[in-house]
Amino acid sequence: MLVIVKSNYDKLSEEAAKVVADRLKKKPNLVLGLATGSTPLGLYKELIRLHKYEGLDFSKVTTFNLDEYVGLPPSHDQSYHYFMQKNFFDEINIDPRYIHVPHGMAKDFKIFCSWYEERIKSFGGIDIQVLGIGANGHIAFNEPGSSLGSRTRIKTLTSTTRADNKRFFENEEDVPKYAITMGVGTIMDAKELLLVASGDSKAEAIKSAVEGPLTAMCPASIIQMHKEAFVIIDKPAASKLKGTYVDTWETIIFE
Ligand code: F6R
Repeated sequence: MLVIVKSNYDKLSEEAAKVVADRLKKKPNLVLGLATGSTPLGLYKELIRLHKYEGLDFSKVTTFNLDEYVGLPPSHDQSYHYFMQKNFFDEINIDPRYIHVPHGMAKDFKIFCSWYEERIKSFGGIDIQVLGIGANGHIAFNEPGSSLGSRTRIKTLTSTTRADNKRFFENEEDVPKYAITMGVGTIMDAKELLLVASGDSKAEAIKSAVEGPLTAMCPASIIQMHKEAFVIIDKPAASKLKGTYVDTWETIIFE
């Protein structure tokens, strides 16, 4: 695991974008795992800038998003599909046929989840998976207590997550009760992981994930078991770490 601490959110976003851009230049048909939430927005913004001003080419890229609310169609303004379209896909030259976001309106979720797993495999697996982290240590919708070997499936949202998200919906009852999410095991199959976190509200979760014991109570702690994981964070998110960490990935050569 390579932990990179940057001075602020913009710098961490640029650093994370550099890693993705480097992988994309080396492999134009990159299979890119994506996350929603506020943290990766800066990374997407920087990738859009690199596309518009430096010709970064997404035409052969395939994407797989981590999760989606059950019951929301892609056109719903609170769906993760809509979020990705607006904040990233609409701004780059990606082929829509290669975009994958779990389908919140699937007819049979069990069949859909197996299909999603198979689809990832059919593209040779995810090359690099972008991750955020919840203040409680969740990754995707894998809340504390999720099996560390889990695969794509339906999860019931915790009352805390529903309460956190109610600000985005008109009525509390409109907040979805379920989500489709890649499992922890699915995420771990990605060849590289790129976890981004910003702000002191994430400091405790980052401490548990990076330096705490490996436990299902902090699903993000599984990254300690990954062979090629980047954790790119800003100083406030790193404020509870005890170890000494680097400030750029460029000096590090993976053999
Ligand atoms: C979203 C996702 C979530 C978020 C996490 C952090 O696809 O997988 O696990 O990454 O909740 O969200 P933000 O970045 O909004 O703090």
